[in-house]
Amino acid sequence: MLQLLVELGPADAVSLWTAPMPGRIECVASAGEAATSRRHRLSARALLEGSEGLVDDPATHVRGVVVPRWDVSYAALIARSRPEMSARLAVYLSEATTALSRLFESERLFERNEEVERVLVSASERRLTRLGCDLHDGPLQDIVALADELRLARAQVSSLLEDDLAARVRGRFDDLEARLVALDQGLRDISQAIRSTSAVERPVEDALRVEVDALNRAGLIRAQLTVNGDVSGLTASQRIVLFRVVQEALSNARKHSGATQVRVRLRSSARYVSVTVKDDGCGFDVAAARHSGRLGLTGVIERVRLLGGDIEIESSAGGGTRVRATLPRWSRATDPTEPVYAVTA
Ligand SMILES: Nc1ncnc2c1ncn2[C@@H]1O[C@H](COP(=O)(O)OP(=O)(O)OP(=O)(O)O)[C@@H](O)[C@H]1O
Ligand SMILES: [Mg+2]
Repeated sequence: MLQLLVELGPADAVSLWTAPMPGRIECVASAGEAATSRRHRLSARALLEGSEGLVDDPATHVRGVVVPRWDVSYAALIARSRPEMSARLAVYLSEATTALSRLFESERLFERNEEVERVLVSASERRLTRLGCDLHDGPLQDIVALADELRLARAQVSSLLEDDLAARVRGRFDDLEARLVALDQGLRDISQAIRSTSAVERPVEDALRVEVDALNRAGLIRAQLTVNGDVSGLTASQRIVLFRVVQEALSNARKHSGATQVRVRLRSSARYVSVTVKDDGCGFDVAAARHSGRLGLTGVIERVRLLGGDIEIESSAGGGTRVRATLPRWSRATDPTEPVYAVTA
């Protein structure tokens, strides 16, 4: 835009300044010759640190205006016109200020959106990690202690009993120990699953493959993963949510569906990324399950909505279940870290 003011408008130098912290001002974009000169800097400082809304120096033909972001002064737009054009410069600057204000406001909204997304998703991941650790350090350690006591009790009781009775009691202790081992393994699996940070640390495709492979290894269900499109540019929050959706859908297929096959499909386009998990199991009444007080599906629905996405759960008795989560892909059209200077010689 600054370049246009120089090429097509009445300015021969334009610069845009902000005050990232008190006492410091910074030129964020410029066009034209000597657009970042001391005079421009002083004018910008007067606007950003003083109370004036306008700088107008007829001697040097430098004019500066404040660019507000909502109702706060956010930047200073300074321009030097060719002498014969100084009257027209005011009109051009006023138009440019309006456009820049909108730009800064939407930029800020964008940043806030990113911040909110990060905070919300990482807070729920942190809660899960904490829960996984609590489970590991609390109930799992109790189970280990309980198993020791059970072994001791078994030895003590056996020594007090006649042979045939001792054999029956030993069988009973074997059952109890086996149940304790299964309980220990079950809780360890849960603890591991909820503490899993693999969705953050590795590409989503790899994280999903680990889940699918684990299901295949368990042997009851044949699981397949397909990936279409480029899924490399997803945010950490998006990767976590996609991973959690698949994790829950696979866990449900394993626990409830009696399915023999599950297909996981990750698809990405320029505007959306979606993941579909489809099983050929018994199906269920989705509306009733939503009010069952169980947390799995409710949790993933909330996570998907948090990122502005959509989730569909389709299921029918005997017809299997399909869970599909779609997230909007949004990324900046421009790179905010890239300087936008356009100084013409
Ligand atoms: N793929 C599926 N096939 C058959 N029934 C399912 C399937 N997914 C969910 N259900 C039914 O919906 C109910 C709710 O699922 P949800 O994941 O919310 O809870 P859950 O799996 O029972 O417990 P958790 O809170 O540990 O996830 C399940 O109890 C089950 O009856
Ligand atoms: Mg579940």
